[in-house]
Amino acid sequence: EEDIAGKLPLRGKKVLITAGPTYEAIDPVRFIGNHSSGKMGFAIAETAASLGASVVLVCGPTHLKLTHKSVERIDVTSAEEMFQVVKSQYPDTDIAIAAAAVADYRPSAVADQKIKKQAASLQINLEPTPDILKYMGEHKQNQFLVGFALETENEIENAKGKLSRKNLDLIVLNSLNDTGAGFKTETNKVTFITREGEILPQELKPKEAVAQDLFQLIQQKRYA
Ligand code: CTP
Ligand code: CA
Repeated sequence: EEDIAGKLPLRGKKVLITAGPTYEAIDPVRFIGNHSSGKMGFAIAETAASLGASVVLVCGPTHLKLTHKSVERIDVTSAEEMFQVVKSQYPDTDIAIAAAAVADYRPSAVADQKIKKQAASLQINLEPTPDILKYMGEHKQNQFLVGFALETENEIENAKGKLSRKNLDLIVLNSLNDTGAGFKTETNKVTFITREGEILPQELKPKEAVAQDLFQLIQQKRYA
């Protein structure tokens, strides 16, 4: 594609995106998951592609479909599978954006057979999953690294903590409290917080518009 009007500012850049929930198996028919729809991550992938980037979208279980044909989509189920794909895709990535709602814990053992309804109570022991974004922060070379944060209290402070702990360049704080923002909706109300400490609250807007704003900010910070 020719870039006569400079409309493809991310041409030649590789953008790696994680999206959707992860499912952590309990037994052959059951899992621990969450209500993430993947919409924010898919909007980011479509926007990156429309700006000329080569896009790899690693997504957990979702019914969403991509419209942009140039996005390479890699479907995974669990946090561990997402981690393996990210590890192999990360080294030559220019911009990495972690929009996935990765399960924090998984069953420490997966039952071989469907668990039968026998006992009066059932305990499932859980262990932590790999923190995929933290790994990317620890192995950062020249990547611009973006994370998301969902907080219900001390939002700004907690998001800033994640930004520094995970060695991010930018964190997108999601407000779950505002109506019209959240997991299944078409809109989002976010605050961008930069490594430099800027706090940039945004209006409630469609997830596509949030994605546009995000890349505008990334370009300002990295490719200006
Ligand atoms: N993340 C990840 N791998 C995990 C957990 C989270 O890559 N195992 C990423 C998410 O994609 C998101 C960011 O880390 O970009 C923050 O996720 P969040 O759940 O808000 O934070 P956690 O670090 O998991 O902390 P907590 O859930 O305790 O708030
Ligand atoms: Ca978490």
